[in-house]
Amino acid sequence: MENRIYTFPIVIILFSLVLESGCVVNNNKCTNDKSGYFAEQYRPQFHFSPQSKWMNDPNGMVFYEGEYHLFYQYYPDSTVWGPMHWGHAVSKDLIHWEHLPIALYPDSLGYIFSGSAVIDRNNTTGFGRKGVPPMVAVFTYHNAEREKAGKIDFQTQGIAYSLDKGRTWIKYAENPVLKNPGIKDFRDPKVFWHEETNRWIMILAAQNKIKLYSSPDLLIWKYESDFGAKTGAHGGVWECPDLFSMKIDEQGRTKWVMLVSIVSGGPNGGSATQYFVGDFDGNKFTCETAETKWIDYGKDNYAGVTWSGVPEEDGRKLFIGWMSNWEYATTVPTHKWRSSMTFPRELILKRTENDYQLCSLPVKELELIREQCYVVPNQDIKGDFDVRGAIPFKASSLEISLDFEWNQQVQKIGIKLSNSAGDELEAFYSGTNESFTIDRSKLKGSSFSKDFSGIHKAPFIAKKRLKLQILIDESSIEIFVNNGELVMTDLFFPSDNFEQITILASGDNISIKEAKFYKLKSIWSNTPLLKQKVID
Ligand code: FRU
Repeated sequence: MENRIYTFPIVIILFSLVLESGCVVNNNKCTNDKSGYFAEQYRPQFHFSPQSKWMNDPNGMVFYEGEYHLFYQYYPDSTVWGPMHWGHAVSKDLIHWEHLPIALYPDSLGYIFSGSAVIDRNNTTGFGRKGVPPMVAVFTYHNAEREKAGKIDFQTQGIAYSLDKGRTWIKYAENPVLKNPGIKDFRDPKVFWHEETNRWIMILAAQNKIKLYSSPDLLIWKYESDFGAKTGAHGGVWECPDLFSMKIDEQGRTKWVMLVSIVSGGPNGGSATQYFVGDFDGNKFTCETAETKWIDYGKDNYAGVTWSGVPEEDGRKLFIGWMSNWEYATTVPTHKWRSSMTFPRELILKRTENDYQLCSLPVKELELIREQCYVVPNQDIKGDFDVRGAIPFKASSLEISLDFEWNQQVQKIGIKLSNSAGDELEAFYSGTNESFTIDRSKLKGSSFSKDFSGIHKAPFIAKKRLKLQILIDESSIEIFVNNGELVMTDLFFPSDNFEQITILASGDNISIKEAKFYKLKSIWSNTPLLKQKVID
């Protein structure tokens, strides 16, 4: 079979987005030279990462006046976890991010752990001024001194508000708003307005379960119910929950989805996020799904939650996760910064025969950074198919869209990335094992943790058709299988860049219905830099 590849100009969709042109502060001079910026080995080019130092969970995601806010667990003094702050960035399109100064600093009540943010449109808190509704952050205070002293009540919930679009924050003088009831792990509040009962609901993680509270004003909280002590996976402490309703059909019927991250015991080891589908009546969540379900079967999507305040006309449920795993997050081989977020995703709840399935897809704004597209013509293939040389860009920052069909058995179908140093990464479907696999066991630079190298599997059945949308960004791969029915996210750290892509195909009568390779533009090339001290 002839391996012909055609190029064609992609239609560049011009969104009416005008990026502010920023400058790089270099020797105290403002220049447009951004060479070297975000160019370190393994530095993601189209995923969010902090300019420097340690980051973990996404926090306080809220959309307000044309901006998506992304706060995050941040330690500005080191590339390993430490006293937590809330870092901050904003985006107008979920793709290009502007780094902003730290939003919340630790204080006498403790470090600022994970939490959420809402726009208090009805000014229930009374923090609003002159018709400006407050943006309210609800977070966990972690008091390290009380923890050291052997107390168990060292986590409480506090709030802060901003009247200038999240740029400056005032902590509430009467914090904490929710005291610790005597539970060691009591954290990560996610708050939302519950229309039907006209009040705020807070969901938080309490060791091996979820606790729900309600409030008229975000200041006084009343306990409502518990969920989950005997449901779902319990391989580790529960963390970072979320609860939201989603449409299941065109008639507008809805179901409630609860996300719960667990620090260990994920489907492929370590941290992962499970979900439950059911109903929420304003007091209590009841789960309808029997077996444990995972939002992502890879090892590197943790603590993800959804944006609040997304306008109804948009209507999407937008999600982002922390692209790492507590098993090895503090030892991955990046030096200036540690960790990035997943690519922002749209969640879709599908009704299956007797169940529900939460699907994820990369947000459509991804199209904004498609630069060039190379297409492999549709054809039948009988074996592995080498795309080397045909794609005039490195296999380091790209989107791949593949669609295969076969009429009998398929043993292995997917992709392999490799380089001349002998590193290999494979991602493939196996009809024989009815599973999808990411194999990162053949990477040279994985000795930083005994838990990193490995083969990650997800149960999956493809019926004679397999569609893959794959995002590769320097040191991460995200695979969305059959319109997001299965997702796998994995980091990888090869000893050198991958330069070769092979389509893996073994089975009977496999044909390519689509094979497109998009070069993606770096999101950092036009992004204003934070004009304050950057800690090196
Ligand atoms: C999850 C988590 C949260 C906590 C935060 C601390 O990764 O452990 O439960 O609030 O990180 O940084």
